[in-house]
Amino acid sequence: MAQQAALRTQIGIIGAGPAGLLLSHLLHLAGIASIIVETQTRQHVEARIRAGVMEQGTADLLREAGLGQRMDREGLVHHGIELRFCGQGHRIDFADLANGQGVMVYGQHEVVKDLIAARLAAGGEIVFAASKVSVEGLDSDRPSIRFTPPEGRAQEIACDFIAGCDGFHGICRLAISNGALTAFERVYPFAWLGILAEATPSAEELVYAHHARGFALLSMRSPAISRLYLQCAPTEDIAQWPDERIWDELQLRLVAGPGWHLTQGRVLQKGITPMRSFVVEPMQVGRLFLAGDSAHIVPPTGAKGMNLAIADVVMLARALEAFYKSRRTDLLEAYSATCLKRVWKAQRFSWWMTQIFHRFPGEVPFDQRRQIAELDYVATSTAAATALAENYTGLPML
Ligand code: APR
Ligand code: PHB
Repeated sequence: MAQQAALRTQIGIIGAGPAGLLLSHLLHLAGIASIIVETQTRQHVEARIRAGVMEQGTADLLREAGLGQRMDREGLVHHGIELRFCGQGHRIDFADLANGQGVMVYGQHEVVKDLIAARLAAGGEIVFAASKVSVEGLDSDRPSIRFTPPEGRAQEIACDFIAGCDGFHGICRLAISNGALTAFERVYPFAWLGILAEATPSAEELVYAHHARGFALLSMRSPAISRLYLQCAPTEDIAQWPDERIWDELQLRLVAGPGWHLTQGRVLQKGITPMRSFVVEPMQVGRLFLAGDSAHIVPPTGAKGMNLAIADVVMLARALEAFYKSRRTDLLEAYSATCLKRVWKAQRFSWWMTQIFHRFPGEVPFDQRRQIAELDYVATSTAAATALAENYTGLPML
């Protein structure tokens, strides 16, 4: 048998995305040991372009955990977003509506880079490029992780608990026996075509645009880099979208008045993202705790994905700290119920943002008029705008 002597840690973490890395960092601050096992290379996870908007509470949490220096230097603080419909912009002012709260525009891969640097500087163990990752003994009090490192023989890590932070396509959720989980899912009949471009953002804040040709979003990563998205068919072939076609379509959908022109530049990256709402319940079985995308997915319209992942691991770190410091198990037992309350509110908001902005196949003209009425209501009613602002900037983490 080509297996080496078992390694030992307190918390075995699968996945080095924001959830797994932040969990490991928070546990370290609480004096709890962990090892992260990740199938991709460090270069891959650090270059993977994902979402880029952090709720106020997420940014504050990263600061409190000593991870805010580069974010505060390079990130962009926004105090509003624009809803654009019928060719006109309407600003939703978070400062006014959400008690001065804002959001931080800072790419998820930058958060990942900061977290990896912090873990490695503190002597944290991350196994990148692992293969054949599996979890065993989830119902016992000695669960373990098996994997093969990039160079070397198969290894096993004996753990007290395992955190499944391995994203939607990971193995942890699937390792839970049939029947123990219930999945709730809605797959949307459209996707987003996204580009990252070397172009000065054409607006100071994010613009969410409703248009007869489909939704468009103007976002950014820095004063020199734009991030833009277009609603497209889920079966769309990216090869059919040369850069010029993308810019033309964005210009049409984002237009705000006759003189308005979208700044263009070199396209650095492009891709198509499917849209789905997904939740499994419960988020824990035996000694395995799911966190982040492994347990739930939101469509990106509400910018909630990374924020939910971070809120989950904050809860999990607190529960594990209570267990190790005072042998309390109540927070661990309540982990799933605590997270799901917030997860479902973010699901509701993400679905709401998605359904007011997108064209749906089979819709009737009534639906478009209703969407415009709803956007107009949000733009003109303080009550409706407050609901958007408090959800967008983030509900309390608990
Ligand atoms: N073994 C080890 N690692 C794995 C495995 C596996 N079998 N399968 C997947 N992984 C890794 C992935 O390579 C990835 O690095 O798990 C990590 C999961 O990270 P994310 O997908 O970023 O998920 P999470 O940390 O929950 O963060 C959620 O990511 O997709 C976005 O919109 C989402 O912003 C949200 C955030
Ligand atoms: C992004 O900048 O990638 C982004 C911003 C807002 C969203 C989704 C994605 O709602």
